[in-house]
Amino acid sequence: MPIMTIDLVTLFPQMVEGFLTQSVIGRATKKNILSIKLHDLREWALPPHYAVDDRPFGGGAGMLLQPEPLFKAIETLGTPQSKVVYLCPDGVPLTSNLAKELSEEKHLILISGHYEGIDERVRESIVDLEISIGDYILTNGTLAAAVLIDAVSRFIPDVLGEEKSLTQDSFNDNLLTFPQYTRPANFRGMQVPEILLSGNHQAIEEWRRTQQIQRTKERRPDLIKKFQNKENHASNN
Ligand SMILES: C[S@@+](CC[C@H](N)C(=O)[O-])C[C@H]1O[C@@H](n2cnc3c(N)ncnc32)[C@H](O)[C@@H]1O
Repeated sequence: MPIMTIDLVTLFPQMVEGFLTQSVIGRATKKNILSIKLHDLREWALPPHYAVDDRPFGGGAGMLLQPEPLFKAIETLGTPQSKVVYLCPDGVPLTSNLAKELSEEKHLILISGHYEGIDERVRESIVDLEISIGDYILTNGTLAAAVLIDAVSRFIPDVLGEEKSLTQDSFNDNLLTFPQYTRPANFRGMQVPEILLSGNHQAIEEWRRTQQIQRTKERRPDLIKKFQNKENHASNN
């Protein structure tokens, strides 16, 4: 039994076929930790023309995905355990914390929109959560769904295996990560910071923490505020 099953409903399943077979996600599906299935929305298209889209009421540019095929898709794939997620620019922003929360789910059904999006009645009636992967517009939600799958899967036990410690990643503790170096110690005259070669693990930990705080201050004032608030709260209690 996989730990999590993900069904992705999209007009463009081929856009992410390769992604699902590669690297960490590919290994997790091979080991059956994850089961990810791609569904072409056209499977649920309506006869006689098998269209899935139509013009918006009230006029305006573009087309919208119709409610019927999406309702049918969710009715076919859904179980009482399913969480239905629509990827859209006006959803809640995807963060590391949200990805971690979603990694506790047993079954995700991801809906990718296209054109101008999907009929609002789908969003109101059968979608549990709407998620944006950033403040920009993609041509459709398939890559956004792939991003969500990738970010969520990393938090599922055994998906990363020995490869990685999650605690060193950016956004853990509201801090960005620290600078990292590998061999050679001197590359074209650029020297690795001496402390990393010292073998003094405590000093290295302290240097890394200072670097994290510095980098976060410079690049993400929003995060450093959250970090400082949490630190202050902890020292006051
Ligand atoms: C061209 S967009 C529609 C944009 C919509 N008219 C709006 O302004 O919010 C088509 C589809 O791409 C997906 N999409 C686009 N940008 C996205 C983002 N930043 N995050 C998640 N999904 C996105 C959604 O599924 C959306 O239905």
